Amino acid sequence: MNILIIYGSTLGKTARIAGLIASELRNFNHDVTIRNVTKANVKDFDEYDLIILGSSTWDDGMLQFDFRPFAETLKNTDLSKYKFLIFCLGSEKYPHPFYAGKKLEEVVLRSGGKIISEVFNIDLDHDDEETLRDNEVIEWVSVINTKL
Ligand SMILES: Cc1cc2nc3c(=O)[nH]c(=O)nc-3n(C[C@H](O)[C@H](O)[C@H](O)COP(=O)(O)O)c2cc1C
Repeated sequence: MNILIIYGSTLGKTARIAGLIASELRNFNHDVTIRNVTKANVKDFDEYDLIILGSSTWDDGMLQFDFRPFAETLKNTDLSKYKFLIFCLGSEKYPHPFYAGKKLEEVVLRSGGKIISEVFNIDLDHDDEETLRDNEVIEWVSVINTKL
């Protein structure tokens, strides 16, 4: 399967998780392209069988800063031809935990996109050990691989 991962990351945690998801998917023989949201273009979506969107949560439940303009573009795009997965970084410590994932889910569904599994929330704060959730991520990829 040809998969595109688009991530937005301020301090690098989401970028690293996106890289881990990519390498795990490659272990299952998928072709994976990984792109910072600042370089993403909806025109490329036609080339992929699955699009994975990943954002951290900031500023009281907002999408990661770079993801905000891209989410506006997604709102104005017909996504009915495309399949998506969403992952989100955040922490239960904050008053609006994992809201970035909820926001992306809302945007994708409203534009007609099909989400093939529920949003994957990864509880990983900026000062947590970066590998803290790696096992959960690896497990998630092996489960979603059975749906691909
Ligand atoms: C100032 C600040 C505000 C944050 N706000 C939220 C929030 O509202 N909800 C949430 O779930 N996580 C929140 N987080 C947690 C971040 O999503 C988390 O630190 C994440 O690992 C950052 O990933 P990134 O480096 O890829 O951007 C916040 C973190 C900081 C430092």
